[in-house]
Amino acid sequence: MSIVITGNPGVGKHTITKKISEILKLSVIDINTIAKDAGLFEESENTNDVNTAELEKVIKEKISSCSLIVGHLAPYVLLPDQVKKVIVLRRNPYDLISVYRERAYTEEKIRENAGSEVLGVIAYDAINQFGKKVFQLDVTGKSISEITDKVLDIINEKEINEEVDWLDLVIKQNDLKKFFAY
Ligand SMILES: Nc1ncnc2c1ncn2[C@@H]1O[C@H](COP(=O)(O)OP(=O)(O)O)[C@@H](O)[C@H]1O
Ligand SMILES: [Mg+2]
Repeated sequence: MSIVITGNPGVGKHTITKKISEILKLSVIDINTIAKDAGLFEESENTNDVNTAELEKVIKEKISSCSLIVGHLAPYVLLPDQVKKVIVLRRNPYDLISVYRERAYTEEKIRENAGSEVLGVIAYDAINQFGKKVFQLDVTGKSISEITDKVLDIINEKEINEEVDWLDLVIKQNDLKKFFAY
């Protein structure tokens, strides 16, 4: 059964996946690459516009006995019996805004993705889909090797789950408008 690394764009999924795959010698299944290769992304900039039902089928064919699966769409295209553990990387939404600006996302796309982190949408959807197999890890301010070690700990049954909630922080900073259009 596979290990899954998920979380919003910019949290460090691909960086950490590369490290873990090298250490554990696991092959990587990149959900976005599979979706692109299968032509399942809609013709919009928004990578959430994807035919998830079809993608679920395509991934089912590609999954091998034990791989490392990476992608923000994991909760929507994987089934509970396909996965052993799901690690949701969480990152301070203010830091994510900087990553998105570097990626030249539109203001709308920045708000949408950073707002999704504030609300913990992917963590929530992952828990809904995979239940107790889900582990959250706050990567904010941690070095790549620190995060890699923590992910390895989770994989090796030292099961530490962090409760992450950015909403309090954003409300205290009076910044709801920064993350939500209203
Ligand atoms: N622990 C970290 N500390 C600081 N920057 C990081 C860290 N991990 C990743 N990054 C940087 O953050 C950006 C997003 O990382 P990436 O792995 O592409 O995220 P994702 O695959 O989740 O979109 C990249 O510029 C990457 O170099
Ligand atoms: Mg990525």
